[in-house]
Amino acid sequence: MPRRLDVALPDWVADAIARNAATHDGKVLRQSAAALSASYRAKGRVEPGAVDPWAYVATRAPATYAAIMSALSALVDAAPDFAPRSLLDAGAGPGTASWAAFAAYPGITQATLIEASPPMRAAGMALASGAPPALANATWSLADLRNAAIPQSDLGLAAYLMNELEIGAATETVRHLFAAAQVLVLVEPGSRAGFERLRAARAALVADGAALVAPCTHALACPIASDDWCHFSVRVPRSRLHRQIKSAQLAYEDEKFSYLIAAKPALAASIKRPHARIIRHPVARSGHVHLDLCADGAISRHTATRRDGAWRTARKAAWGDGWNSD
Ligand SMILES: C[S@@+](CC[C@H](N)C(=O)[O-])C[C@H]1O[C@@H](n2cnc3c(N)ncnc32)[C@H](O)[C@@H]1O
Repeated sequence: MPRRLDVALPDWVADAIARNAATHDGKVLRQSAAALSASYRAKGRVEPGAVDPWAYVATRAPATYAAIMSALSALVDAAPDFAPRSLLDAGAGPGTASWAAFAAYPGITQATLIEASPPMRAAGMALASGAPPALANATWSLADLRNAAIPQSDLGLAAYLMNELEIGAATETVRHLFAAAQVLVLVEPGSRAGFERLRAARAALVADGAALVAPCTHALACPIASDDWCHFSVRVPRSRLHRQIKSAQLAYEDEKFSYLIAAKPALAASIKRPHARIIRHPVARSGHVHLDLCADGAISRHTATRRDGAWRTARKAAWGDGWNSD
């Protein structure tokens, strides 16, 4: 079984969000959260600069955090010896990817967060005052990534950023980020637009010599059909505040996301890539399990039966897991 990192916000973040939200007008927060949800439903994205940072922090950040932690689980699984000391968080928003990076890699001692929106940056800095010391003392740069100087880092993260840029600008920005990082983790909404950007970034990074870490199990042309998108899903626990602001009943929501992890060629030998990736929910029937797999530049369906040696593994396999059995 792959190691799965905890996708719930760390206590220090959840407490800081609750403390800060309590100082805001609840009605305004609910209205801003409704506008945010409507924008995501209509366009799959929000207009940069038009977001109430506290509505984002209370209702979207728990979901983006969970998606980022899921991607980092894949990195921990594939590169168990990778121990980053420095972090770059590009399009940091309130710092969501940094919260996740520090939870996954407590050995990080130095972090830079680049964000274009002053209110987002201010919200992130307010929240980070209760963070682990290296994050509380991080450098927050107010800059546009399309022309900013990018500092070198062991781990670069850009979460839910590319979807806010035109595809060409997103690809060029990602190439600059990759040039400055040992490992780059990209996370986007699990939508056609999010995946389209990741697919373009994948092609550009492979051309630049990147070793793909996950979810891709090969560097051949992406076999996902042009009208389809490769994505995964994570169950996000909702806090009381999250439910209140969204006027939601359920204690959880499911976040669909796409991701891509690329490493510098020097790290390629240390990466453990599975033979295949399970790209949809396994379909379990009595006596057999269907697995849709991406491997060797193609998508295929594998059916495991009780007679197979890998039957027990297949029964427990989940969407997004690697698959090594025949
Ligand atoms: C959807 S938010 C994601 C925030 C955070 N990374 C997360 O995953 O929760 C995207 C952030 O990227 C920032 N952003 C968009 N375009 C940018 C650019 N060209 N340069 C720097 N930041 C940018 C926006 O201001 C916004 O805060």
